[in-house]
Amino acid sequence: MDGNGRWASRRFLPRIAGHKQGVDVLRRFVKACAARGVAVLTVFAFSSENWQRPADEVSGLMDLLAIALSREVPQLKADGVALHFVGDRSRLSPKVAAGMARAEAETAGNTRLVLNVCFNYGGRWDIVQAAAKAAAKGLTMTEANLDAAMALAHVPHPDLIIRTGGEKRLSNFLLWQAAYAELYFSDKLWPEFDDAALDAAIEDYHSRERRFGKTSQQLEPTAAQRAAA
Ligand code: IPE
Ligand code: MG
Repeated sequence: MDGNGRWASRRFLPRIAGHKQGVDVLRRFVKACAARGVAVLTVFAFSSENWQRPADEVSGLMDLLAIALSREVPQLKADGVALHFVGDRSRLSPKVAAGMARAEAETAGNTRLVLNVCFNYGGRWDIVQAAAKAAAKGLTMTEANLDAAMALAHVPHPDLIIRTGGEKRLSNFLLWQAAYAELYFSDKLWPEFDDAALDAAIEDYHSRERRFGKTSQQLEPTAAQRAAA
């Protein structure tokens, strides 16, 4: 969810105001995804590298997370959202870590949409912790064993990855899981990423041919192609 800081700066507001707006947009975005039948939404909220930001921005982001944990859970529960936090919790305050565990427990039975919030997360961190976990269990190093040890093992690999804010890189997000994801880059700043922007991304996704290493001829025709034939 990139572009909060620039969104705020353009309005002569402090960066944290952009992050606040980002939370409001995420709240709407979750609803929009659920309404469109999206089963899993994984958002990158705070990276392993974001600790290097100015101390007041880092503490502002931690405060925002704590506020969201106390305010958002009832509505998520009502909307059938199962919340998961993905990332290294050892560096988070005990209060935040406990809030995460509580939010997960309270929404655990929900089945409409899985919302993974990646917080103090990095794709490399996940690969390393999965390898360490598999090694500690004495497992052979296979793709399947490593995949099962990843922090995101409870959901399938992503079909579509959207990066907002104009940058064209993954910035350590879902490195392992992104192998065959369709990548979509939007110049819109995250606080401007509205329903129409989501629909444009989904439409673009549907225009892609996903071959997974095969040739075009080997693929099953899609329902739309069969109907047109
Ligand atoms: C949000 O956007 C990402 C977070 C770490 C919360 P940014 O804070 O990266 O916004 P820009 O890139 O400065 O506009
Ligand atoms: Mg940024």
